[in-house]
Amino acid sequence: MGVLHEFHDAAYARDWADRFTPSPPREALFATMLGMLERHPLPHPRVLELGVGPAYFAERLLRRRPDVHYEGLDFSRPMLDLAAERLRPFGPRVTLTAGDLLQGDWTSLVQRPVGAIVSTWALHDLGAEAWTAKVYSDCHRLLEGGGILLNGDFVKPEDTTHDYEPGRFTVPRHLELLSAAGFSGRQCLGYWEKELEAPTTAHNYACLLAFKEREGHEGPH
Ligand SMILES: C[S@@+](CC[C@H](N)C(=O)[O-])C[C@H]1O[C@@H](n2cnc3c(N)ncnc32)[C@H](O)[C@@H]1O
Repeated sequence: MGVLHEFHDAAYARDWADRFTPSPPREALFATMLGMLERHPLPHPRVLELGVGPAYFAERLLRRRPDVHYEGLDFSRPMLDLAAERLRPFGPRVTLTAGDLLQGDWTSLVQRPVGAIVSTWALHDLGAEAWTAKVYSDCHRLLEGGGILLNGDFVKPEDTTHDYEPGRFTVPRHLELLSAAGFSGRQCLGYWEKELEAPTTAHNYACLLAFKEREGHEGPH
């Protein structure tokens, strides 16, 4: 299914979480996403994250936004356990949900209404453009009008001569898929750790933003 990590193994998940402690550029991606969530008034203060992982982003969001109720979806039980540990101080503001973005209608598993959907370094693991396109469409259906989608993920640089996993593709292609899913105001908010010569799997990630129009609203954002 294109998932290259052994996220279902508890020892692997813990080791991965320790190695993935956010570096300054990764913190810059988080700050960009948090800033956008603050600048854009959400139609509802429920924020859904796809791929909660060890909850590094969730912790920062919940600390900064006491008004937000957070739901994190993940298909890895060990990752959900790590997230539960990290997010315990936030008590009833947190819901953690087991679900696979590649199986059935995952949107039926989560609480509504949803004012914002976020994801970091997760959707490339779906393994193909077509899966990301489907998840973008699912998100458009799930979001309230006026809601936003923020996807910070590994991408393929436009000017590369290297091969990349099929789940990693260019920023313009992400923007096309967001458009096809019905989103407006699509843009790239930033690109971090760009590396063309000797890229590793940890280089080249960007933040994509898109809006779901309120019903009856015609103009662009
Ligand atoms: C890099 S981690 C996310 C890190 C997280 N955003 C954070 O800030 O700590 C990616 C997560 O996506 C989850 N994931 C990958 N494929 C998935 C799928 N098909 N359905 C649900 N979760 C998935 C993995 O289990 C993993 O926990």
